Amino acid sequence: MHPIRVDAWAKVNLFLHVTGKRPDGYHLLDSLVVFAGIGDTVEAAPQQGLSLTIDGPTAPSLDDAEGDNIVLKAARALAARCGVEANAHITLTKRLPVAAGIGGGSADAAATLRALIALWQVSPAADTLHQLALSLGADVPVCLRGVPTRMFGIGERLEAAPALPPAWLVLVNPRIGLSTPAVFKARQGCFRDALPLTAAPADAAQLAAELRRRDNDLSAAAQSLVPEITQALDLLNNTRNCLLARMSGSGATCFGLYADQNSTEHAAAQILAHRPAWWCHAAPMLSPP
Ligand code: C5P
Repeated sequence: MHPIRVDAWAKVNLFLHVTGKRPDGYHLLDSLVVFAGIGDTVEAAPQQGLSLTIDGPTAPSLDDAEGDNIVLKAARALAARCGVEANAHITLTKRLPVAAGIGGGSADAAATLRALIALWQVSPAADTLHQLALSLGADVPVCLRGVPTRMFGIGERLEAAPALPPAWLVLVNPRIGLSTPAVFKARQGCFRDALPLTAAPADAAQLAAELRRRDNDLSAAAQSLVPEITQALDLLNNTRNCLLARMSGSGATCFGLYADQNSTEHAAAQILAHRPAWWCHAAPMLSPP
């Protein structure tokens, strides 16, 4: 059996409304999730026992390659659910910033599940896999799906997104980790109605117009905790042809939306010229295969 390699693409919340709160403290969301063509990779190779190596440019910001890493949790949970031994050597190559609102850990967990399903040749039922993913984190089911998705509940209710036009993204992160619970806790204001995107926008400009009618309800709270987010949004808004600048998830990563690839490359270069120490990448918005 050859090693199995799976991409863990960055998850981007094009909008995120907080619509309520469950008695257990989790928040109910209405979000449109897409994936950008930049991400971590997970490679699973046959081996007796379970081990994890982490490499890649943002690996140093992950402080534990130990038992509580979400990749190992995913591997052990899948093995237990499928009644097999957790035998694999996993290599996680980190390129995404950590605790960044673009689902790095969730995407890694989802990619681990995919890689090990192939390596161990197991076939958990769709509902079993969904529940397992959800037990690892609210964003893991959407990352497992890996295509543009309308997300509701805490992340467990997923529906197909309408067809989205070709679009390009610039992702900007000030390399300051932000804790998701801290952002939800700092959020003020009431709950907003859901406003799911149901019609297919004709082009990137129309997608941006639809997104402008919506927002990221965690942005103000995240900006109060990390003021650099405001700078990231200003920098994106000052780039040529930026159709919309917004924060993803609970931050601190912000994205700019563009209609063409050239503009994203210019924008990323311009932002890195201003903030050479920040993480900034241009990437296509991925469409379903
Ligand atoms: O599920 P995950 O581990 O990603 O969530 C981390 C924390 O973020 C939760 O414990 C909760 O405090 C908060 N959260 C929330 N509502 C969500 C997702 C996360 O309140 N829909």
